[in-house]
Amino acid sequence: MRRGSPELIFAALIALLLGSIVWYTQRVVGDLRLEAERFSRMYARIYRALGDTTEAASTQALLGLSRSIVDQGVPVIVTDAQGNPIEIKKPVLCRCGGSTSKPFCDGTHSRIGFQAAEAAIAGSQDRPA
Ligand code: FES
Repeated sequence: MRRGSPELIFAALIALLLGSIVWYTQRVVGDLRLEAERFSRMYARIYRALGDTTEAASTQALLGLSRSIVDQGVPVIVTDAQGNPIEIKKPVLCRCGGSTSKPFCDGTHSRIGFQAAEAAIAGSQDRPA
């Protein structure tokens, strides 16, 4: 076979094509594996919450799911008692009682002068809302 023959060029193109298919497949498999891990963690949280029927467990499950969803870049929308949608940018529980999007903090605590345990109790490890 001569150098630069059509067979050699064809074989090189086939090898390049196969190599790119293998590379692409490995990327897709890696992405699917990450996605499966995310879903597994989410399902584990749901099943844990289903097994524990206390209100605190369901709230923790809701927060965990919310954080997981926000971490994936998907906005979390909840509705208030009137059915109005409220976007939750950072799923943190309200501790001051003043939030209009309970159980999530909406920043009202800073306007009403709420002081968390860290400020109220010297030496407390608790962080302000
Ligand atoms: S609004 Fe209540 S803690 Fe932030």
